[in-house]
Amino acid sequence: MNTTPLYRQLAHHYLDAIRSGTLKTGERFPSIRLMMEKHAVSLSTAVQVCRELEDYGVLEARPRSGNYIRQPDNVPKPVPPAPLDTGVYVGIHEQVSSVLKAGQRANIKVNFASAYCAPELYPLKILQDHMIKALRQDQQLLGKPGSTCGNLALRNTLARRALTAKTNVSAEKIVITHGATEAINLALRAVTQPGDTVAVESPTFYGLLQILESLSLRVLEVPATAHSGINLFALEKLLLGPEPIRALIVIPNLQNPLGSIMPDANKARLVQLCAEYRTVLIEDDTYGDLVDTDQPLSTLKHWDRTDNLIYCASLNKTLAPGMRLGWISAGRWHERVEMLKHTQSRGCETLSQLAVSAFMKTPSYERYLRRLRKTLTQQRQQMSAAILRYFPSGTCVSNPRGGTLLWVELPPRYSSMMLFQEALKVGIQISPGDIFSNAQRFDHFVRIGCGAPYSPRIDEALATLGQILKNQC
Ligand SMILES: Cc1ncc(COP(=O)(O)O)c(C=O)c1O
Repeated sequence: MNTTPLYRQLAHHYLDAIRSGTLKTGERFPSIRLMMEKHAVSLSTAVQVCRELEDYGVLEARPRSGNYIRQPDNVPKPVPPAPLDTGVYVGIHEQVSSVLKAGQRANIKVNFASAYCAPELYPLKILQDHMIKALRQDQQLLGKPGSTCGNLALRNTLARRALTAKTNVSAEKIVITHGATEAINLALRAVTQPGDTVAVESPTFYGLLQILESLSLRVLEVPATAHSGINLFALEKLLLGPEPIRALIVIPNLQNPLGSIMPDANKARLVQLCAEYRTVLIEDDTYGDLVDTDQPLSTLKHWDRTDNLIYCASLNKTLAPGMRLGWISAGRWHERVEMLKHTQSRGCETLSQLAVSAFMKTPSYERYLRRLRKTLTQQRQQMSAAILRYFPSGTCVSNPRGGTLLWVELPPRYSSMMLFQEALKVGIQISPGDIFSNAQRFDHFVRIGCGAPYSPRIDEALATLGQILKNQC
């Protein structure tokens, strides 16, 4: 039975026709009414087909005239890798570091740059109690080094929880890490050499760009949208191109900063494409557990049949940023990752692993997550409404189905870097759009974190940001 939604089957049908040249550039695309008639589908299915094709970059809506075919060449251009070894510092690392440093130097009263929840939303007391219990049970705990791969009880708990997201990983092949940051570093070190090319979504989390640059890897950016994540059409073109792409890092669920969730069919296709082109897929599942629904999202790992994927995840956004816990399941690269982890930092601290494992095994962990998701949904809605109220007209705000982040598009004449600098002067921190790409094309975007409960102070800070923007033009 074909489980792909009807609208996606139809979109792929038209995509094939465009690829094969049956439908030509500049040609008018069948109207919604005609599609409804020809395929016996509802209005909403026909509209979804057009949306999907727009996301692939092959359809262009012209006001009062209908939809027209665009040449696949017209999909947003990937950003070429920055040259290496020129003797001149060209990467984004310096820019990101100076933005982060400026934020630390300033006297920040309201921080919209953080992707974490406010500390009071995390189950700190419960974790402290579990820590005390663990120390009582083993009074020599702090005197013993942990194992390189991490505590087996926690690895078992994580493997069992992953099953609910239809992700099959063996506890023996999990390595506990210092957050997703270390997991991704290890994954890249396991499969690449300096000078290799690695593709990422564009825009993407600036921390990934920093890691890539610090490992002397060349970065290729593949366009992504808030609607369905990475553009597979653009990716396939790149994979077909002359430059071998050694690895691809994708955040399939609640992408940072877009908030996109890849549809299952795209996840399956992405995994298949990477296997076909021998590009190692590195999955960054930092936010998956923060989706609004209690129904877990599928991972890319779920669709992997060829062991061509390294799965990385974090507990820092969902449970306790102060514990810095994450994990990696590297499949056939497990032994190499274990060796690299040992040489890089040895095992992570046992006490926090025991406390987290003990809590995650109880039913109250699911209850806690449910509460957190509800709270975040409300916070995002309140922030989004205030942004639309205070920011210049023409501002658009993403509408993610979970997580702590909003991606805000300002009218193109506004600069988020200028907003960042002016806002710092009054103690407000934001993430300017340009740090999410090497391409300097997101200056009219801002990432706003919604991890803190809405309050008069936050409302006032958003009003101030709106006023600073209005003074710009
Ligand atoms: C998409 C993504 N990946 C990785 C990280 C780093 O995660 P960690 O704090 O677990 O190292 C972050 C942090 O914001 C992130 O947003």
